[in-house]
Amino acid sequence: MITSFIPPQRTLMGPGPSDVHPRILEALGRPTIGHLDPAFIGMMDEVKTLLQYAFQTENALTLPVSAPGSAGMEACFVNLIEPGDKVIVCVNGVFGTRMIENVTRSGGEAIRVDDAWGQPVDANKVEAALKANPDAKILAFVHAETSTGVESDAAALCALAKAHDCLVIMDTVTGLAGVPVKVDEWGADAVYSGTQKCLSCTPGISPVTFSERAAETIRNRKTPVQSWFLDMNLVMGYWGPGAKRAYHHTAPINALYGLHESLVMLQEEGLEASFARHKAMHEKLRDGLAEIGIGYLVDEAHRLPQLNAVMIPQGVDDATARGRLLNEFNLEIGAGLGDFAGKVWRIGLMGYSAREENVQLCLDALRAVIK
Ligand SMILES: Cc1ncc(COP(=O)(O)O)c(C=O)c1O
Repeated sequence: MITSFIPPQRTLMGPGPSDVHPRILEALGRPTIGHLDPAFIGMMDEVKTLLQYAFQTENALTLPVSAPGSAGMEACFVNLIEPGDKVIVCVNGVFGTRMIENVTRSGGEAIRVDDAWGQPVDANKVEAALKANPDAKILAFVHAETSTGVESDAAALCALAKAHDCLVIMDTVTGLAGVPVKVDEWGADAVYSGTQKCLSCTPGISPVTFSERAAETIRNRKTPVQSWFLDMNLVMGYWGPGAKRAYHHTAPINALYGLHESLVMLQEEGLEASFARHKAMHEKLRDGLAEIGIGYLVDEAHRLPQLNAVMIPQGVDDATARGRLLNEFNLEIGAGLGDFAGKVWRIGLMGYSAREENVQLCLDALRAVIK
């Protein structure tokens, strides 16, 4: 007979999910209530307010999509793109390539701006693409590339898009709460994130925010959004500002308790303190790694503190070493992707994983397996 599943107790220091804080795990187990219960609706409003804080925005259309980061990504693309729309897409890692897929599957035309993996998006190339395509409607880029640990200059890219009258779609699944994400100051129009990275929550929900300009674009579409589930015109009836909270889909009630708790914790810590903690843990890890001869893939200026892409030392077999970390130390770190497979490890210091004990465990365990 199949019995209950009891997972092993791991320390999660890969590219996500990160360790979930016990307070959040406790919140997930609270009694399920109806998704139209007035008490639940009050909590939904708090989640929206707390997400506005995390995204540093006053956007009324700020909400958690009831599905993982990929759904937040899709929500941004399918709602803003109509058939034939031109979208300039910056590709400097895995998640940029997924943006291309989203554009073409939404009936748009993708203009691709490539940068080497491990490098940030080059604003000069983006400017050239904007000049060469004056009819482009949207600029899309990944703020925090999880596949390489690179942060791109979101403020500069948003400013370029504004100067060329383009909307901005920005992926900050790995960025939110780990490094500053200034949605209003930068002028990003459609932004999506995930719960399982620096928010220390369980996977499966995607916080999104749309500027008024984006919301108006969605309201004034000539063609229906090709996805019924992600059509913000419909979702707004449940989550939207002033909505009557009419049934659209059954919200993942307990998962939203978890998100609420994680956002309350973020507010208690404060955004600036959260950024500072991620940076401090990154520096501690970086210094410890240097002592055992492990260096970084990405230049210091463009490194994400929460995603450390590091070079696997010569003579160390990737799969064997990660297998030992998991089996002997219950420690998960991430493999390299694409050309970096077998050459790079991705060490996550996200949310609750960004703490002293984790850094120490990681350094001790790595020292033992690369000996
Ligand atoms: C930058 C980025 N975008 C999108 C996603 C997709 O999120 P999810 O796996 O929650 O669907 C991820 C997940 O790792 C990511 O790192």
